[in-house]
Amino acid sequence: MKNPKIQINNLSVFFNYVQALNRITLDLPENRVTVLIGPSGCGKTSLLRTLNRMNELIQGFLYKGEVFIDGINIYDKSIDLVKLRNTVGMVFQKSNLFPKTIFDNVAFAPRLQGIKDEKKINEIVETVCTKAAIWNEIKDKLQTEALNLSAGQQQRLCIARALAAEPKILLMDEPATALDPISTAKIEELILELKSNYTIVFVTHNMQQAARISDYTTFLYMGQLIEFGKTTKMFTNPVNKQTEDYITGRFG
Ligand SMILES: Nc1ncnc2c1ncn2[C@@H]1O[C@H](COP(=O)(O)OP(=O)(O)O)[C@@H](O)[C@H]1O
Ligand SMILES: [Mg+2]
Repeated sequence: MKNPKIQINNLSVFFNYVQALNRITLDLPENRVTVLIGPSGCGKTSLLRTLNRMNELIQGFLYKGEVFIDGINIYDKSIDLVKLRNTVGMVFQKSNLFPKTIFDNVAFAPRLQGIKDEKKINEIVETVCTKAAIWNEIKDKLQTEALNLSAGQQQRLCIARALAAEPKILLMDEPATALDPISTAKIEELILELKSNYTIVFVTHNMQQAARISDYTTFLYMGQLIEFGKTTKMFTNPVNKQTEDYITGRFG
């Protein structure tokens, strides 16, 4: 691949010496959506979390191999982890908003970055909430508790909060799995809008969803990368029999 945004090179991951990922080598393109699919326990979350070094919060984590973002090895000693996790934002299956107001949740990263001018912070909050397709629903209640929003609104607010840190990459670990169909559709629409400006890596169990939102698909099985390719190709004409069986629902 020419100029990949993310290069994963011979990456293995272990938790307490049990191997979760086995020699993954994979390039991911800039400003596209790549989905990670595969049965439960195949390593999707572990792989996602190597991209912003979140696995290091887990006791017993070990890795071998390299991950480059824009050609820079993110496991180098000189890497500032706070900056890395701003550049590589993450959204989880369940909202992890702070028990604070809507405004304070979204303003969190800009304030941490030292922005003091309230007018500037107001602007950022409006901009990112608009981008996350939540502004109209919250603009009249910015000072209310974020945790009172519906589950679907909370997920979009999590995306707004991540965007406020000015990321280049967004990691999403089944962000719509716990949502109703209308909220899921809103998240999917949002992903398609965001992908012109962000590199998105998205985990899903839902094959229809993977086909709708992604440009590229990565199929993992028992810690191994089985197949990577354009979604249109993988969903119509996969190279590997296991990929075909998984996508068509023969196991999973
Ligand atoms: N915090 C952890 N401690 C120990 N083992 C873990 C931990 N997280 C994941 N694993 C193991 O790593 C493997 C991959 O898990 P995971 O990445 O969560 O898979 P997926 O997201 O595809 O369901 C599994 O065997 C799982 O048990
Ligand atoms: Mg997972």
